[in-house]
Amino acid sequence: MHRTHHCGELRRSHVGQVVTLGGWVNSYRDHGENLVFIDLRDRYGKTQIVFNTEDSSEIDSLARRLRREDVVKVRGEVRYRGDALVNPKLATGEIEVRVQGLEILSRSKTPPFEVEGGDLPNEELRLKYRFVDLRRPELQKSIILRHQLTQAVREYFNARDFLEIETPMLGRSTPEGARDYLVPSRVHPGSFYALPQSPQIYKQILMVAGFDRYYQIARCFRDEDLRADRQPEFTQIDVEMAFVERDDILNMIDGLVAHVMKSIRSVEIPLPLPRYTYADVMERFGSDKPDLRFGMELIDIGAIAAASEFSVFRNVIGSGGRVRGINVKGAAEKYSRRLLDVDLKNFVGEFGAKGLAYMKVAGGKLESTIAKFFSDEQQQQIIQKMSGEDGDLLLFVADQPKVTSAALSALRNRLAKELKLYDPSDFRCHWVIDFPLVNWNPEEQRFDAEHHPFCQPNPEDVSYMTTDPGRVRADSYDLVVNGYEAASGSVRIHDSAVQQQVFDLLKINPEEAERRFGFLLEALRYGAPPHGGVGMGLDRWVMLLAGDDNIRDVIAFPKTQKAADLLTGAPSGVDDRQLRDLHIQVQLPEEK
Ligand code: AMO
Ligand code: AMP
Repeated sequence: MHRTHHCGELRRSHVGQVVTLGGWVNSYRDHGENLVFIDLRDRYGKTQIVFNTEDSSEIDSLARRLRREDVVKVRGEVRYRGDALVNPKLATGEIEVRVQGLEILSRSKTPPFEVEGGDLPNEELRLKYRFVDLRRPELQKSIILRHQLTQAVREYFNARDFLEIETPMLGRSTPEGARDYLVPSRVHPGSFYALPQSPQIYKQILMVAGFDRYYQIARCFRDEDLRADRQPEFTQIDVEMAFVERDDILNMIDGLVAHVMKSIRSVEIPLPLPRYTYADVMERFGSDKPDLRFGMELIDIGAIAAASEFSVFRNVIGSGGRVRGINVKGAAEKYSRRLLDVDLKNFVGEFGAKGLAYMKVAGGKLESTIAKFFSDEQQQQIIQKMSGEDGDLLLFVADQPKVTSAALSALRNRLAKELKLYDPSDFRCHWVIDFPLVNWNPEEQRFDAEHHPFCQPNPEDVSYMTTDPGRVRADSYDLVVNGYEAASGSVRIHDSAVQQQVFDLLKINPEEAERRFGFLLEALRYGAPPHGGVGMGLDRWVMLLAGDDNIRDVIAFPKTQKAADLLTGAPSGVDDRQLRDLHIQVQLPEEK
């Protein structure tokens, strides 16, 4: 037996016992001739080990040979540290183990960075030496949290008649809007499997097959541009239910969120989670995933702007644009002219805004270089509309509606973070419902599915399908947590004629529909129950619960922003023979 206890286990009640521990040498403190301390670390915690002998040559032969991250087995007696020496920060802080025997099980090269303390090196080095990085208690905590979350999810669904069913990794393309990762077939020359972007089509077919309630902790693959909250390979909590309407699904997921928060954070979440329409949040926050931990809503002053003398505003209104603003409460003195005219202006510029107008409220009036373009009465109207009080900073963007939304919602998020307008550990979840079914793609001159082509159009809007498709709402919804899209789903079309109508709208002609999704259309012709579901981004949930903003910290072996695995060196070249077997010839792009 290599150990009797782990490194987070020993307490005062163990004093007097002779124990054996195994672990990594976390730190080493040499207190002179015959006293050396090490902290021994494993997943469970740390224990202080003391080498204290009368004979310092004995210590020399044992402790002084140790280096950080060596793996050792230590046998010794558990001792109380003494009242003055108790370390309250450590679970094992009352005791120490006085060494009687030590065995070095494995030596470590000098680690590329310190597991504890010390500055974190760049992420590349951390990913290359992921086995060292993963020893850091913060990362261990996140990976353990991930495990707890998946267990809580399974517990919840298992108790409600859901079946966990696996769907293939090697399959046909499922459209979620990203590029596919393809796998060449050896047996069928020139043919490829696609790794699933989600189990979408399979789970719908499971409903047609009568499984009624399905879930899966499913790996998904998407070859898309990566960001801090995206990975090429990520995990969804994938759910589908039959004989349901939208609210049945939302209520089920509400319950899941409450269950998870209770089991992981011991917090009671009041249900139902708030539900806002897409139109409502776009108007109030300029975003379909607003962070509701703070207010600072977008306010339209178009009518006042149109009547003013400020030509920038008037021209924008004249060309179908809008003038909208936010009130940054009490921030009038917090942003210098330079910050406003350069930093914040450039910031909104990234979202297409051509300028940022600002006004300060002081003595019940507006102070601004552009105040002169507004009559006293108009100034009062602006103050009233913006709920302005002395000391407030009012910021405005005049532009096409989409630009005002994008610029002001980003500005709202940035300022709230800078001004610490919310508690970062707060957890605010809400649904956004009634997304548009399609949106216009001006480059391709056609409508694209807002979510995916299988969403049920809202029955009330079906008459607009041919006359005004942009107006049709889908029976679809997103779950938003602290400004992140944490889940997304819809009621599905279960009628092949309606499905064909939507394909027509998306300019997917019958031949193409048959070629790409013929198997689904065919399944819908054999008795499909009404069904719907949701896909929740597991990695994002763990990230949010861990209070992190880097998705790579909650995945054991993540990929870089360039989709590389620095630990194993994937992707990599392969043998010519493998390529020959797969009937593949590689043509590299010419080097620039
Ligand atoms: P969607 O494409 O919106 O829907 O994905 C569902 C959820 O998965 C998470 N997610 C990601 N997480 C990390 N990295 C990525 N690259 C990534 N892409 C998506 C998000 C998102 O909300 N089949 C539908 C679901 C359904 O309709 O049931 C789907 O995949 O949190
Ligand atoms: P100008 O008349 O261009 O000097 O602009 C006067 C002020 O209005 C400056 O603070 C500009 O940043 C701001 N501004 C210019 N264009 C816009 C716009 N489209 N929306 C909001 N503010 C603008």
